[in-house]
Amino acid sequence: MISYLANIPVASGSVSAGIKDPSVAKTFSVLRFENPDGIIFANLGAHHDVENAKRAVDLLEANALQIHLNAPQEIVMPEGDRDFSMWLTNIEKIVREIEVPVIVKEVGFGMSRETVQQLASVGVKTVDVSGTGGTDFIKIENTRRVMDFYDFLEGQWGQSTVTSIVEAMSLPEDIRPQIIASGGVKNPLDIVKALALGADLVGMSNRFLRYFRETHQLESTLNQMISFKDFTRELMTLAGAKTIAELRQKDMLLGSDVQNWCQARGIDWQSYANRSRLKRN
Ligand SMILES: Cc1cc2nc3c(=O)[nH]c(=O)nc-3n(C[C@H](O)[C@H](O)[C@H](O)COP(=O)(O)O)c2cc1C
Repeated sequence: MISYLANIPVASGSVSAGIKDPSVAKTFSVLRFENPDGIIFANLGAHHDVENAKRAVDLLEANALQIHLNAPQEIVMPEGDRDFSMWLTNIEKIVREIEVPVIVKEVGFGMSRETVQQLASVGVKTVDVSGTGGTDFIKIENTRRVMDFYDFLEGQWGQSTVTSIVEAMSLPEDIRPQIIASGGVKNPLDIVKALALGADLVGMSNRFLRYFRETHQLESTLNQMISFKDFTRELMTLAGAKTIAELRQKDMLLGSDVQNWCQARGIDWQSYANRSRLKRN
């Protein structure tokens, strides 16, 4: 919640709980109360309808609505959903009828270009690919189970944030939504890499939660957020980029795992290493 002091947008957890039980609604509305002028995203699962989406936005007076896609989490969650057949239809209706921008996001398992394309086809303008490498909801939900464990899935499902970004960036520009990168983003170098790969925004949760859990110091967590912004600017200076658009023209070498992935998926990984030359020609 202190992120507003660092002038960073903040997203709530799923407002589902606040819609089901009005007595906990104030645990969400406090975000707006404490942060009257900041950018706040409300968050809901894709099984919700337009009415609930409006309730979530109203409760937080939110600037945007995040809709999360968390099928792997639901599957491992003992009480999780098993029917995802209405998700795309719900998203399409919400995008059409709600007044604030809608961000559709994963929760740490990444997205393929087909998923991003499918979301774009129903009008979604912003997608947070949220890949593996950070918070692992298969692991978390597995620890809540008392039998039929899914330990064989831990660390084995989904794709990294890097591969998710290159997947999304391989879509033609005219149909590609704005891309947010989250999932396993741990430091300012990760932020700059994600921006250089093509992300428009970068999101973090695990890193700051962990830091706060270790230190129990709101002030030093806030200071870390602020210093991450300064480090990001410094790294852009090192890369010789004044803007994010300039950063995207810098040459980047993708690691061999990502190259192999791109090779298999028909994605032109070499163009990342030759962007400055390709731009000149
Ligand atoms: C404690 C916790 C609660 C979360 N709750 C939600 C949620 O309610 N809705 C959602 O879309 N994502 C939720 N996420 C997922 C994050 O938004 C993010 O997609 C994921 O944690 C990957 O980023 P990270 O590796 O930086 O944690 C949660 C993450 C954490 C750590």
